[in-house]
Amino acid sequence: MSPVRTEDWPRWPPPPTGEQRERLLRVLDGGRWGATSGTETAGFAAAFARTVGAAHGLCTVNGTVALFLALRALGVRAGDEVIVPAYTFVASATAVVLAGASPVVADVTETLHLDPAAVDRLAGPRTTAVLPVHLAGAPADTGALREVADRHGLAVVEDAAQAHGARRYGRSAGGLGDAGCFSFQSSKAMTAGEGGIVVTDDRAVYERLWALHNVGRAVDGGWYDHPELGWNLRMTEFQAAVLRPQLALLDGWIEHRAARAAALARELVAVEGLEPVPVPPGTTRHTWHLAMLRYESGAFGGRSKAEFVAGMAAEGVPLDPGYRSLSREPSLAPHRVRSGPCPVAEAAGESVVWVRQPMLMADDAAMGQIAEAARVVQARFRG
Ligand SMILES: Cc1ncc(COP(=O)(O)O)c(C=O)c1O
Repeated sequence: MSPVRTEDWPRWPPPPTGEQRERLLRVLDGGRWGATSGTETAGFAAAFARTVGAAHGLCTVNGTVALFLALRALGVRAGDEVIVPAYTFVASATAVVLAGASPVVADVTETLHLDPAAVDRLAGPRTTAVLPVHLAGAPADTGALREVADRHGLAVVEDAAQAHGARRYGRSAGGLGDAGCFSFQSSKAMTAGEGGIVVTDDRAVYERLWALHNVGRAVDGGWYDHPELGWNLRMTEFQAAVLRPQLALLDGWIEHRAARAAALARELVAVEGLEPVPVPPGTTRHTWHLAMLRYESGAFGGRSKAEFVAGMAAEGVPLDPGYRSLSREPSLAPHRVRSGPCPVAEAAGESVVWVRQPMLMADDAAMGQIAEAARVVQARFRG
């Protein structure tokens, strides 16, 4: 029997546009390749910050470093604790380690976003920040998290690596906390292969970010004056040139994926045991970086998630098995990580699969093929 789908899935990033080629060549020919001599990076940072509704933006080498810079600029120091959600990419926690602090792992709600009640329980005397992740393109509950953070005197650093363009009650992800951090790594909704940005409304925080990412220099100081310790964590002009035109394309991409995610949800109604993970209340724009699905092995003859993922791949539908809960991440253990009980994230590690962004750039028929492949695998597993 031939697989349900034999065509290739759309590639990500999409083919370059004329404007991207022109901007890239302008930087190349202009010879100002670094952000300290060119204007492309600062221009992109300002334009991106405007789309988030933030006053300042600062481009950096990647999203992990954006988080590190935001934590340090907001005062996180060696020996501090920062609360992170259990269901996220490991970089949400390794950025905390990079800043010299210890990640404290808190469970998530049924939407797989950070649970404010768990944060409230885990915040202790050494806790100085909380790091909600806007997972899969949907915003975390920054309303309740802000209340908890204020009660415990914590900074709120948003990990919006997966949420360019997402909105909560009409307000943009990344503009809901003290600082918001985005990634432009290859798989992200806007990409330059690598890259990141921090946005903030606070001028003083921006100046600290600027100094930390620019070898400790002051905004108005000399090249060899280093009032504080800092590093070269700057983005190149080439990356900004590739990113700038994507600002005008992002909304169209999000609309396309939202339509496919809706089609997929309709198709999956007919598949027992494969359901969309609920979307957080207050999500007014989901960007569908991922469509997360809960796999019930009982409806598939008791077969494991790994067997299901392999079965789907054989049908031409490459799902992603997603994260393991950070409470079970061995590489974090030596970093004095404290963890609350994480039953929701640990269950998600066993049962949640993802349809990734490039697949959601396909057409409605492709969404039908995902459901069809699941039915074929289910029939096989049930014998
Ligand atoms: C939730 C989350 N946080 C942080 C990062 C780190 O970003 P980067 O790979 O640009 O360092 C990523 C993606 O890679 C991510 O998905």
